Amino acid sequence: MTPKYVIGGNWKLQILRVEEAVSIATAIAEALEKLDLGTTEVFIAPSYTALYAVAQAIKGTKLKLAGQNMYFRDKGAFTGEISPDSLKDVGCEYVLLGHSERRRIFGETNAQINQKVKKALEKNLKPVLCIGETAQERKDGQMEAVNRQQLAESLADVEPEQLSNIIIAYEPVWAINNPFLNPNVEIKTATPEQASDAHNFIRAWLVSTFGETAGSQIPIQYGGSMKAGNCVDLLALPEINGGLIGGASLSSETFMPIIEAALGQMKK
Ligand code: PGA
Repeated sequence: MTPKYVIGGNWKLQILRVEEAVSIATAIAEALEKLDLGTTEVFIAPSYTALYAVAQAIKGTKLKLAGQNMYFRDKGAFTGEISPDSLKDVGCEYVLLGHSERRRIFGETNAQINQKVKKALEKNLKPVLCIGETAQERKDGQMEAVNRQQLAESLADVEPEQLSNIIIAYEPVWAINNPFLNPNVEIKTATPEQASDAHNFIRAWLVSTFGETAGSQIPIQYGGSMKAGNCVDLLALPEINGGLIGGASLSSETFMPIIEAALGQMKK
């Protein structure tokens, strides 16, 4: 059995007003209603302040909700953090963890991400664990080593039976449309060959670490400048099980073609 497809929209700090977030989410949810998603799952990750209103607006639709991050403790004196219970309370089913913007701009470590992954699993939130190498690391021949270390340390102490609730997002840092992450790098989407190599490496690691049954079922999303114009070739690869999309997820017009491409692939 091949893994299900998961398409996620990471809105980052791009949609600042609740009203706008609700309007975009509603348009996506309405467009999804016309499609037969089969086993494919679609989520969006708006800002925390918009989660509740968006959750109300998309209630009962096929569109699901994700947090962009969370703390690894339930509650307490932790100014500025967000609890997994609060994400659940407003209807989140997923949570992005270890996004390269969290790692590189805010200094999150694999050890912290590991605590978050374990806490999310305990709380029945599905972690979308983001991993990926920088342009320099790839140039230095470190692509496999960097991704292996991020996987091993972020998934430490996770049991094979918990894997069915985890999604991996391979997001090469150099492909993410973010000039803060990539100050001197020409940002470009991974070619299907580059993505394929990395996804096959990740899959092999998952299978060898967690066993064939658990390791072969986890969806591995590709992320990094995915859009209508390049998603078909990427999603056509059997080793790519969906996408984590930033910029192109900020409107129904740019997000839906990616979802439709994923569904087209699923029908083949
Ligand atoms: P991008 O972002 O699609 O805008 O490159 C992807 C991500 O960071 O998840």
